[in-house]
Amino acid sequence: MPASLGIIGYPIAHSISPIFQQAALDHCGIDATYLAFEVAPEQVGRFVGDLRRDGAWGINVTVPHKEAVIPYIDEVDDWATAAGAVNTIVNREGRLTGHNTDGLGFLRALRDEGGFVPEGSRVLVLGAGGAARGVVLALSRAKVATITIANRTLERGQRLAELAQSADTEGLAIPLDGKDLTEAAGAADLIVNCTTIGMSHGPDEAGSPIPAASIPSRVLVNDLVYNPLETPLLKAAAQVGATCLGGIHMLIYQGAASFEMWTGQDAPVAVMLEAATKAMAAR
Ligand SMILES: NC(=O)c1ccc[n+]([C@@H]2O[C@H](COP(=O)([O-])OP(=O)(O)OC[C@H]3O[C@@H](n4cnc5c(N)ncnc54)[C@H](OP(=O)(O)O)[C@@H]3O)[C@@H](O)[C@H]2O)c1
Repeated sequence: MPASLGIIGYPIAHSISPIFQQAALDHCGIDATYLAFEVAPEQVGRFVGDLRRDGAWGINVTVPHKEAVIPYIDEVDDWATAAGAVNTIVNREGRLTGHNTDGLGFLRALRDEGGFVPEGSRVLVLGAGGAARGVVLALSRAKVATITIANRTLERGQRLAELAQSADTEGLAIPLDGKDLTEAAGAADLIVNCTTIGMSHGPDEAGSPIPAASIPSRVLVNDLVYNPLETPLLKAAAQVGATCLGGIHMLIYQGAASFEMWTGQDAPVAVMLEAATKAMAAR
């Protein structure tokens, strides 16, 4: 019988993880099936408990269950503890460990696909929600010099700036518009969009969180939004000659880290990226 893997969320139909994870398993000749499970909040405990059985290797966890699974896991790693969220569960002979691969996935995408060296750099983070928290944590751990957080709700940005400061990184919060934003962008080596602006079916599908005129041509722009693949922000960045990195790369590398934990094998990243890109283009 094939080993069992998958992803839980509520809803889950939008997830492309089953497509690129199954492509990776098939490419490596691993006898395992990766499925999507729509699990209602009241069923999370029972579902996670059932992962202790033989043949269940683990799962990915997505919205809204990333915090809710924690009480049902035996041990939570350092990244997941700091993020307060688990996106990967591994079953080793009935013992469940919880991990968060978003930070490592983000950094690996930046380094391997964006050619970016975080150490000592100046970063402008747009947004202060769940994704921004993971990004600020990862950037602080990678020893960037400064992180400026621009957010519509300034207090949320200030809380994230405090998180950066507690990790010995210079952190500053500013509004997501006006002169401060233009200045911060002008001084940045990297701009990361962690807002939902530009996301299909999001609050501002056609918008960009920062105007093209404020993006310097020498900067790397990483949009975490991956639906659509080419967002209004990435179009604006390309227009001024900046280097662009789409959110699909972080998605693939966080999934690759999960794959490596379950299987003990290197993930076939190029195969995963091709499967994911095809799936997104067909939507
Ligand atoms: N590539 C990947 O692997 C990956 C991983 C995680 C997330 N993501 C993507 O990252 C994005 C953010 O996800 P999340 O979980 O962090 O969402 P979230 O927690 O809901 O945060 C949303 C952020 O967007 C801001 N925002 C929303 N609507 C806005 C508007 N109309 N004008 C200005 N700001 C607005 C919010 O500002 P306020 O604080 O003012 O509300 C907040 O900072 C999503 O598109 C998600 O798909 C990608």
